[in-house]
Amino acid sequence: MEHITITSTFTVYPSVAHLPQDVNELMEQAAGVRKNAYAPYSKFQVGAALLLDNGKVVLGSNQENAAYPSGLCAERVAIFHAGAVYPDAKIVKMAITAASSQRIVNAPIPPCGSCRQSIAEYELKQDVPIEIWFMGETGAVYQSESLKNLLPMVFGGKDL
Ligand code: THU
Repeated sequence: MEHITITSTFTVYPSVAHLPQDVNELMEQAAGVRKNAYAPYSKFQVGAALLLDNGKVVLGSNQENAAYPSGLCAERVAIFHAGAVYPDAKIVKMAITAASSQRIVNAPIPPCGSCRQSIAEYELKQDVPIEIWFMGETGAVYQSESLKNLLPMVFGGKDL
């Protein structure tokens, strides 16, 4: 019998004011597109901005549906859009911000499990880590150097 320990490391920035300039700008774009969220049911708006290695920025916001499972998270709207329009580009960074109509969200909001699995597919495909930066509406920003910190022991195509 043996134990396996998996460690995840995140860097914490106290606020957007402390971010590197390019990430600050990417987060601003995520906050801009967050306003386009269609979230009449949860009243929880999420914006995601992807920086690609071709210099393009691809945006997404959550899109809900009266049939709840038919809606989609901001991260997957963005990542599927990137895959559809720029299939050969690599994703360098992803910035995520979440806000609520009902409270101030000042804690960092990480991507949900389904989004982690979807992002993992692209990280494995491109074989280059995707930096993930996430925050609430205000407050601290967490950075992960790779999706792997958020989804250790990932299931991927190699497992099939
Ligand atoms: N949501 C996202 O857009 N990303 C996440 O990672 C977590 C949840 C959305 C889905 C739904 O529209 C709302 O937030 C509440 O779950």
